[in-house]
Amino acid sequence: MTYQELKKLWLSYLAGKGHAIIPSASIVPENDPSTLFTVAGMQPLVPFLLGQKHPAGVRIANIQRCIRTNDIDEVGDDSHCTFFEMMGNWSLGDYFKKEKIAWSFEFLTSPKYLGIPVEKLHVTCFDGKDDNGREIAPRDTECAQFWEAQGVARDRIHFLPKSENWWAMGSGLGPQGPCSEMFFKSECKCDAKCKCNPAKNCGCFTELGNDVYMQYTAKEVGKIEPAKQRNVDTGWGLERILCFVNGYKSVYESEIFAPAIKLLGGDGRHARIIAEHTRAASMIVADGVIPSNTGAGYVLRRLIRRAVRTANANKIDGSIYEKLIKFYNTYLEFDAKTVIEVFTKEVNRFEQTLAKGLKEFEKVKGKLDGATAFHLYETYGFPIELTQEIATERGIKIDMDGFKVAQAEHSKASKAASAEAGAFKGGLADSGVETVRLHTAAHILLATLRKNFGADIIQKGANITPERLRFDFSLNRKLEPDEIEKVEKDVNQIIARKLDVIVKEMPLADARKIGATGTFSDRYGDVVKVYTIGDVSCEICGGPHVSNTKELGHFKIQKEESCGAGIRRIKAVLE
Ligand code: ALA
Repeated sequence: MTYQELKKLWLSYLAGKGHAIIPSASIVPENDPSTLFTVAGMQPLVPFLLGQKHPAGVRIANIQRCIRTNDIDEVGDDSHCTFFEMMGNWSLGDYFKKEKIAWSFEFLTSPKYLGIPVEKLHVTCFDGKDDNGREIAPRDTECAQFWEAQGVARDRIHFLPKSENWWAMGSGLGPQGPCSEMFFKSECKCDAKCKCNPAKNCGCFTELGNDVYMQYTAKEVGKIEPAKQRNVDTGWGLERILCFVNGYKSVYESEIFAPAIKLLGGDGRHARIIAEHTRAASMIVADGVIPSNTGAGYVLRRLIRRAVRTANANKIDGSIYEKLIKFYNTYLEFDAKTVIEVFTKEVNRFEQTLAKGLKEFEKVKGKLDGATAFHLYETYGFPIELTQEIATERGIKIDMDGFKVAQAEHSKASKAASAEAGAFKGGLADSGVETVRLHTAAHILLATLRKNFGADIIQKGANITPERLRFDFSLNRKLEPDEIEKVEKDVNQIIARKLDVIVKEMPLADARKIGATGTFSDRYGDVVKVYTIGDVSCEICGGPHVSNTKELGHFKIQKEESCGAGIRRIKAVLE
């Protein structure tokens, strides 16, 4: 089964069960500062899982691009990827366990779909307890009964505690509940003592998917309460299933990686790391992130630099990235030219200092003090995780406490750096009055830039804290001082016109028809919010905004600088 066939099979199966197919949302969550990246298909849907009406209805399916970096050290094994696509479907207060289990069973076992022999299928259900054996919710016998009714024998149904069979976002907050995971059992070499089950990691089980029954919600960590709306949230890993159905041992043998591994000269752990990180980094850049020292930009930097160091250590030529990116672009949609530009710039920047930084390492014997680790980070751009990795390779210990002290001292000294901590592109750091005002100012700024420097200018990212607005846009040159003054003047004139800010919901097609712009329009599928500011601006945007420009005050640009090839950055405040 090819990648495209698997995607189509999933979506057409669920469309056949009445699901609306929505596009993948951005890999960078909008207006959700709780995580740097979208970690699951349910994340962009949280408002709807909590009861807001989804414009596409109560049955939704998609394939969502996700990033999870908690298993970054596992990358290079057969299955862990930092970037992956999650095949998902949701019931928003509609069907529940009975229907979902019947469909999961059919999709897994029917020869029309994955065709897994029933006797190879094992499933798990929640046993009601936390990991200390305390009861936190009823044992999910209902779930087990529905599996049994489908023909899964009782000894292939495993009851497991919260750590295995309960799903919530990392914060522990929001919609959550017991889940049921599905596994393929391969020929098992364990002895009887093992009493193999899917929680044992004895190598006998391959996870295929996870169906979550969101019957609960938590406003405070550890305090679950029954949810008003009972939802189903499923997430099946596309890469793993593709690998599994084609009988491959590792995802790197499948068509989504094999040509990359070939370009890298063969399937070693180093090749897997370079291939995987280049793919993940490409997708992060594609959604508008630029390498930096904070937030999502820092994770991106770490991925690229880990790939570069791994390539250098294995004498792989720097031109490899372009070839890899072009290959990934054969099946993942993104603007390869921009991705290659951002990538090349970061690779060059790092390569210039890599050798010097490694020389510093040569001098270290036994223990690396915190100040030197910080110096490597600050001067040579070594993410601390990279320093840790190199140190481990060389049997050197790092004084991590010392590193943290040096870092804290530095960020105290540099207010700008700390203002950027917790930075989220596209979203707001919070929705306090100040950030909302700056958000509206950002729309006026974009309109003004377009009017003065060309209608083709696009927003490349925005980051707002209560203190200031940071706005990235496409332009191939620096702005002259008189141009900056003109932009300020135009923005302030618009503010002075006391224009109403009006929001309307409409189908995406209508929004496009009335000329609304916006790069993040794919979030909620077909119906979008459009914010209009007088005759000045009309943008697809999730909000929030002020209701009249008179609330904004005086707009002032503090800085204009380059932040990547063909991208300029403006820092501005409202006084
Ligand atoms: N949200 C669930 C998961 O990520 C489906 O596993």
